[in-house]
Amino acid sequence: MKWRSRRWLVVAGLSAGLIACMTIPHDGAGYARSSALPAPPDPVDNPTTPAKAALGKQLFFDPRLSGDGSMACQSCHFRHLGWADAQPLSRKAGGGMNTRHTPTVYNTGYYNAWYWDGRAKTLEGQITAAWKAQIGADQVKAAAVIAAVPGYQAGFRQVFGAAPSAENIAQALAAFLRTLNSGESPWDRYMAGDPAAVSADALAGSELFSGKAGCAACHKPPLYSDGLFHNVGLEAGKASPDPGRYTVTQEAADRSAFKTPTLRSVAISGPYFHDGSVASLDDAVRYMASGGKADPHKSPLLIDRRLSEKEIAQLVAFLTALTSDERFASPRLP
Ligand code: HEC
Ligand code: HEC
Repeated sequence: MKWRSRRWLVVAGLSAGLIACMTIPHDGAGYARSSALPAPPDPVDNPTTPAKAALGKQLFFDPRLSGDGSMACQSCHFRHLGWADAQPLSRKAGGGMNTRHTPTVYNTGYYNAWYWDGRAKTLEGQITAAWKAQIGADQVKAAAVIAAVPGYQAGFRQVFGAAPSAENIAQALAAFLRTLNSGESPWDRYMAGDPAAVSADALAGSELFSGKAGCAACHKPPLYSDGLFHNVGLEAGKASPDPGRYTVTQEAADRSAFKTPTLRSVAISGPYFHDGSVASLDDAVRYMASGGKADPHKSPLLIDRRLSEKEIAQLVAFLTALTSDERFASPRLP
């Protein structure tokens, strides 16, 4: 059986609550992935292998990637902060401020478009842009710094049969990000047949999420995102509103529309939204459940659901049960 069809079997198996599927190996790469999310699709020219992902993991944590040693990818995407940075807005290498909040890089392999406005069409392309814009690197110079490290020389020879280059460094980073999938949450264990894994409040919250509160219309499981772009009113009333997706499509309906983020591990990745304007998960849920601020381009799916404070708390309990508790070990740099 081809791995692609096996991947869909994993999805089917999960909805049927079969725990056996939780340990199906990754696409022929030979390592076990015990996660509720099946492996994301790989592009044909950059298949994920364990050795390539391990190389990307080192690079993600390595400040030498910035060329001058000042910053690493994980200077803004911290594992313990849900691969985000706990700040409304972050400061780039060189001192400039980002105008949008650092999103999580959990589950990023499942999207078809990257950044809050989806302007990057491939993950490799997004990473190449972040390498330059966020950590300030001249890729060719930075690749030469990496290529001078004996440990990396050996790793790249083994994985790519070549010396580190701007292109294969981005490929290794992408392979690593495709393994950062936020499964193994209490909710996944509940779905796999353990009724004691979540609280009664979380269960009630799950009912609300896909029922009365209307959240699942956009936050579709198992990723809890539809991968689409919606205006939820956050730019309403600002002096110079962020045009969001409009910049990419030039369509009026996309004005101030942003990508629906995954809600897996959302409880640890605050503050929230593309502008980082809301500090707590309670308030983020309250905002979404109240229908958001009025805006001519706001999605009609976002309306005031008239929820009680108890129901808001139940939604928060459900979202908190989506927090992954998988183990993660930081890499040893060569
Ligand atoms: C200074 C902080 C900072 C650093 C350092 C940083 N990023 Fe980011 N990252 C951001 C911000 C801010 C965004 C969102 C920008 C936007 O949407 O316009 C982002 C977005 C992303 C996304 C898109 C996620 C999605 O789902 O659309 C990925 C992937 C990513 N970064 C990977 C990386 C990698 C790889 C590196 C290292 C080369 C890196 N980042 C370094 C702040 C940072
Ligand atoms: C119309 C589609 C839509 C609906 C319905 C919807 N959301 Fe969202 N949600 C989004 C989008 C798009 C964003 C990002 C908006 C932005 O930053 O501008 C978002 C952001 C969030 C965030 C912040 C996540 C982060 O990482 O910053 C939370 C939490 C959230 N939604 C919860 C909910 C809940 C709970 C409901 C139901 C009450 C809900 N959403 C209904 C589309 C939707």
